[in-house]
Amino acid sequence: MYIKRVNLNNYRNYKALDIELGEGINIFYGQNAQGKTNIIESVYMASTGKSHRTQKDSELINWNSEDARIKIDFQKENDEKSIDIYMSRNIKKRIKLNGVRLSKIGELIGNLNTVIFSPDHMKIIKEGPVERRRFMDIILSQVKPGYYYNLVQYLKVLEQRNNLLFEARNNSNILGTMDIWNEQLADFGTKIIMTRNYFVNKICNIAADTHEKISNGKEILKLKYNSSIEYQANSERDIKKSFINALEKSISIDIKRGATHKGPHREDILFFINDKEVKTYSSQGQQRTALLSLKISELKYMEEETEELPILLLDDVFSELDNERQKYLVNFIKNIQTVITCTDVEYLEKLNINDSRVFKVIGGTIVKE
Ligand SMILES: Nc1ncnc2c1ncn2[C@@H]1O[C@H](COP(=O)(O)OP(=O)(O)OP(=O)(O)O)[C@@H](O)[C@H]1O
Ligand SMILES: [Mg+2]
Repeated sequence: MYIKRVNLNNYRNYKALDIELGEGINIFYGQNAQGKTNIIESVYMASTGKSHRTQKDSELINWNSEDARIKIDFQKENDEKSIDIYMSRNIKKRIKLNGVRLSKIGELIGNLNTVIFSPDHMKIIKEGPVERRRFMDIILSQVKPGYYYNLVQYLKVLEQRNNLLFEARNNSNILGTMDIWNEQLADFGTKIIMTRNYFVNKICNIAADTHEKISNGKEILKLKYNSSIEYQANSERDIKKSFINALEKSISIDIKRGATHKGPHREDILFFINDKEVKTYSSQGQQRTALLSLKISELKYMEEETEELPILLLDDVFSELDNERQKYLVNFIKNIQTVITCTDVEYLEKLNINDSRVFKVIGGTIVKE
């Protein structure tokens, strides 16, 4: 899979942009605040229907304009495809795939697959579980049909269950309907837990391999899915049963706090280097290496699941890595369509990145070099 053309109208600081990308490495360089990340963001929008920086689509529209458009043409296997996103200040965004209007974001996700990596993603390693759940959910929505749907349904049921818990404080009679919500929550939730578990086991092996190589065999990286539910067998039936039991057991604390305490919305991935938890014990450099290993394993996992390489978006990543890791990454991206942003191209030239297309970004315009 590769992107052929990026076409932007009134998107962020781009009035009108029409560029052709190369099948290999595409480098966008320029000073700060010129529009490099905006390019990556527009591709990410076409991939997931959302920006990686903001929830508000209105921020993406050029300040002096009422509407904006992103059009991405790409090749997937033997088919030429296009994604077209139209945003306006007054209406919901409209998304088209090959000219046909989509009714839900779920229909877009999984068409143009991307892996995004910026220094900001250190949050996945360093911060709370929200970032790690988001990490899993974005990948799995792209590669596992039905995952995104289950997640959206799960969150809807969760909200309804939480409302009921809240009301039950004043009127315990309504708890009679709780069984129905528990059943539905466990139904969608079990599917999510199983898919995440499978995913973490898979990338654990790939990430461990990668990490071992980057650290010259000194470090063993392990990942573990930390479920909020204890279950015996790894079967849908068993997990669902344990899930319902856990919900029933925690009902009084749930009512007291007006929130559901068990389920995928409370779960996490744990990272260990040589059996010590990374968040607590690893150095800054070890954490960066763990993130690099994780991102590489994300890409390999997506390739394995879809039998196609996703597009790699590297925003300001190279300047943060030391020479060894830069070399590792350059070697890794050789056959992958990659979009790189940086402020300085000189060190990239030293890394012998051949066959790349270089674009200079100046204040929302692009000059091909
Ligand atoms: N809705 C908008 N309309 C017009 N300009 C915008 C809009 N949103 C952001 N910008 C401008 O886009 C520029 C930022 O673009 P971007 O984040 O792509 O910069 P960058 O080249 O990646 O910079 P850095 O090297 O600092 O990361 C800023 O100058 C900002 O003012
Ligand atoms: Mg930037």
